[in-house]
Amino acid sequence: MSFKVTLQPSGRAFSADADTTLLQAALDAELLVPYGCRDGACGACKAKVLSGEVDHGRAPLSTLPEPERAAGMTLMCCAHAQSDLAVECRDVRSAHDIPVRKLPCRVQSLEKLAADVMRLNLRLPPNDLFHFLPGQYIDFLLADGQRRSFSIANAPNADNMLELHVRQIPGGKFTTRVFSAMKERDILRIEGPLGSFSLRDKPEDGGDKPIVFLAGGTGFAPIKAIIEDMIAREISRPIALYWGARAPEGLYLHELALRWAHQLADFRYIPVISGEPLEGWSGRSGLVHHAVMADLPDLSGHQVYACGAPEMIEAAKKDFSEACRLPLTGFYADAFTFATNNPI
Ligand SMILES: Cc1cc2nc3c(=O)[nH]c(=O)nc-3n(C[C@H](O)[C@H](O)[C@H](O)COP(=O)(O)OP(=O)(O)OC[C@H]3O[C@@H](n4cnc5c(N)ncnc54)[C@H](O)[C@@H]3O)c2cc1C
Ligand code: FES
Repeated sequence: MSFKVTLQPSGRAFSADADTTLLQAALDAELLVPYGCRDGACGACKAKVLSGEVDHGRAPLSTLPEPERAAGMTLMCCAHAQSDLAVECRDVRSAHDIPVRKLPCRVQSLEKLAADVMRLNLRLPPNDLFHFLPGQYIDFLLADGQRRSFSIANAPNADNMLELHVRQIPGGKFTTRVFSAMKERDILRIEGPLGSFSLRDKPEDGGDKPIVFLAGGTGFAPIKAIIEDMIAREISRPIALYWGARAPEGLYLHELALRWAHQLADFRYIPVISGEPLEGWSGRSGLVHHAVMADLPDLSGHQVYACGAPEMIEAAKKDFSEACRLPLTGFYADAFTFATNNPI
């Protein structure tokens, strides 16, 4: 049996059966609603059920605690409709020309950008252009059925190449393979593009506002894709890029960011180091989102795009909205949660 799900306030509707998550049903209807991990971990798909009944499915209490359930919130990537529904979702876009596909790819090159960051260039099958929005990610489909998510670090290009920035996780199954065993010409399987992290550039979405990009470590990857796309499309909005890392080596494409700051009008680059010791570092230090708050105490007229560790995203969202008047509708994020190995 299928149910009608209406997104408010847009009134856009789709049907969902009880076996399909609300997120999957929306995507099947080519409606791009906010989401990240599809795994119940990041909270990006959290939405309020205005009317009707849902089963919260495998939503963990850590991401959807009891008080939020009682207040009518749900995770669209986990929830199943039990009746017709009205769901509050203010950020919904059409996804009709970006199908999600599974396809093979070949490792074109591997380049160490830092001791624990590898640039992985992938070549996709020729004559079959892979469409994606700058900021989106792909999943690697591993032989045992597990998946690993990585953001695309380049803007779409005619060469059908994907650039990824992979941070090595000590003991990590996939990233250890990238650093120790993977070689050029290896064949991998991916699924994508995934996620809703991308530039809102329509005037009705606040697409003329100044932008704060907030990157933690390899959270720089999707932000690089968005900035390169803005440069290619000659979108000129004031940009402040805050890039945080524990040590200067973690700013693994520092020279590129400096170049943007020199070449582009109204582009500021603020690198921030959080670790100790800081000998030889004359730049900003501390938590990267605190640097934003110190420079821009009023964010009410900005859009913020944040990417990196979930803790950074949570802290920035809370502090920017509570202390800097950023409306929650102006905060877009991609949290680098790690795989729980739940089937998707
Ligand atoms: C939407 C999305 C986009 C992402 N994009 C990127 C990207 O562009 N670049 C990038 O480097 N990473 C990115 N990540 C994170 C990346 O997917 C994980 O780091 C990766 O899956 C780890 O795989 P693994 O098999 O090596 O580790 P696993 O074998 O899965 O993990 C081993 C253990 O390490 C810990 N762990 C795993 N990942 C992390 C982590 N990220 N932080 C802290 N502890 C961890 C866990 O405790 C885990 O049990 C992204 C994640 C998401 C959800
Ligand atoms: S919690 Fe649903 S997409 Fe991450």
